[in-house]
Amino acid sequence: MLCLAATSPAVEGTAVAETVEYRTAAPKQENTLLCVAVTASSTAEALWQIRQATEAGADSVELRIDFLEDFNHQSTLESLLGSCTIPAIVTHRASWEGGKHQGSEEDRLRVLREAVQLGAAFVDVELKAADAFFAGLQRPQGSTTKIILSSHDYQGTSEDAALTAKIREMFTAGADIAKVATTAEDITDALRILRLPGRSKGPVIALAMGEKGLVSRLLAGKFGGFLTFGRLKGGLGSAPGQPLLSELQSMYRIHSQTPDTKVLGVIGNPVSHSKSPALHNAALQQAGVDSIYVPLLVNDLPAFLSSCTDPDFAGFSVTIPHKVTALACADEVDPVAARIGALNTLVRSPDGRLKGHNTDWSAAIGAIEQGLSQQHSSAAASRDQDADRLASNGAASSSSASPLKGLRVVVLGAGGAGRALAFGAADKGAHVIIANRSLDKAKQLAAAVGAGVEVATPDDITSSRVSGDVLINTTSIGMHPAENESPGPRSNLKNYRLVFDAVYTPIDTLLLREAAAAGCITVSGLEMFVGQAALQYELFNGSKAPIQLLKQAVLKSVA
Ligand SMILES: *[C@@H]1O[C@H](CO)[C@@H](O)[C@H](O)[C@H]1NC(C)=O
Ligand SMILES: *[C@@H]1O[C@H](CO)[C@@H](O)[C@H](O)[C@H]1NC(C)=O
Ligand SMILES: *[C@@H]1O[C@H](CO)[C@@H](O)[C@H](O)[C@H]1NC(C)=O
Repeated sequence: MLCLAATSPAVEGTAVAETVEYRTAAPKQENTLLCVAVTASSTAEALWQIRQATEAGADSVELRIDFLEDFNHQSTLESLLGSCTIPAIVTHRASWEGGKHQGSEEDRLRVLREAVQLGAAFVDVELKAADAFFAGLQRPQGSTTKIILSSHDYQGTSEDAALTAKIREMFTAGADIAKVATTAEDITDALRILRLPGRSKGPVIALAMGEKGLVSRLLAGKFGGFLTFGRLKGGLGSAPGQPLLSELQSMYRIHSQTPDTKVLGVIGNPVSHSKSPALHNAALQQAGVDSIYVPLLVNDLPAFLSSCTDPDFAGFSVTIPHKVTALACADEVDPVAARIGALNTLVRSPDGRLKGHNTDWSAAIGAIEQGLSQQHSSAAASRDQDADRLASNGAASSSSASPLKGLRVVVLGAGGAGRALAFGAADKGAHVIIANRSLDKAKQLAAAVGAGVEVATPDDITSSRVSGDVLINTTSIGMHPAENESPGPRSNLKNYRLVFDAVYTPIDTLLLREAAAAGCITVSGLEMFVGQAALQYELFNGSKAPIQLLKQAVLKSVA
């Protein structure tokens, strides 16, 4: 398979190092502001939201006047602004710009001008209304109100040249701060939006809305955005795709991001359910590493990678459905990943090349080896030790000392995980049996893994016609049609020394409970998940991962 970008890869090249001219713009500030949009329909609720946002540590609130159904001009504005102890943006978004204001334009502009009179920190005016707004504006003496001129595109994201032209137009029209919000149709749109502030001398709020635009919000700190929005727990936010304020603060550490911050991330589709950001960010933060790990909702992997050649994008975890395509996109691939035909990690080397690895198999095999060699010790007492050794064990390539050598390993399922585990077990000298409902699939995989690999049907396993020392479950399909009452596997499980279930939610699967009851050693998908993340951490960083912390972070996130 070729790794070709479907869309133009020239994002970097066409990103002219042009700086947008401006006249009145305020100087850039150090820190990206974390802003909560107050979108209450009543003044009372708005006051409550302002307090919530302030207590949650927001740097600023955006008062969406157009959401208020009981808005009563100056008195409401005064009480709202009077209750703000953090800088407020007053926005009264016109319906023609996607807002809720339905009344007359003159009324709307009057409210915005009143906000200037009342000394609001910021007033947001649509670029299209800028001339009319400024024409009737009388700034009070010593006014420090900053005017944000804004433009919203709910359909898509224009070309870079059009966007920079728009920002220039805003500063020329009198903006102190320019705001461009577009809709990301692809993650590459969000990457282009992220770079806008860096190409302007004046302060710019640049955000790509929608799920595919999320990175424009999460990485605004690194790229010098003036402000990014977070929503309160239970709140919907004011635009699609706004992350939680608490996540921006603690997981993505907006305020600690600097232009030097490295970006790591998990490439997948879907990816919003991934536990990897929670895991990696916890570890990075504890180790004091200046990297942020983000979810990357990628549709077209080649297009994404070619718009992301910046060395600051230092490494990626790769998950479904990109693990196979990623192989073709890597400049270099480690031999086992190449044989498996899939990878889950891309690491950028100093020369910019991407090297591919597969830590899934090594983590799972490492966890199984660990389980086998701990056979006689109390599992509970040795948990911590297990975890500490898990990562380093997993990384070892083939070894004559592997406790898997010579064992019969039954792998249920011939999908991605089955494939990785079959190759991994064979690499350790095990005798592998692949069981899959579609025997053709099993045979194909067996042939790829190598000579001596057997195939079987799930039935063969259930009925113990075929058995082994280690049972690896990589399929979501139970061995028996009614797996909850199935006596089949239960009565046969005692033949196995160790049973491994690749699933980690729930940690305690029925299979593992039955296996434990039958006296088998059990290894859960949790060990594999933590192990693959630990190995990735080490590939990204070069030093040892804090395994205990990773494990706690997953346990917390699946709790
Ligand atoms: C058989 O293999 C396919 C992939 O080739 C996989 O999707 C499926 O879940 C497997 N089924 C069983 C019952 O093992
Ligand atoms: C394999 O694991 C999945 C998920 O835990 C489970 O639904 C399935 O029943 C298991 N398969 C067997 C054979 O127990
Ligand atoms: C690896 O981690 C150490 C701290 O443990 C940090 O100082 C270093 O910058 C990190 N290296 C990379 C490449 O992230």
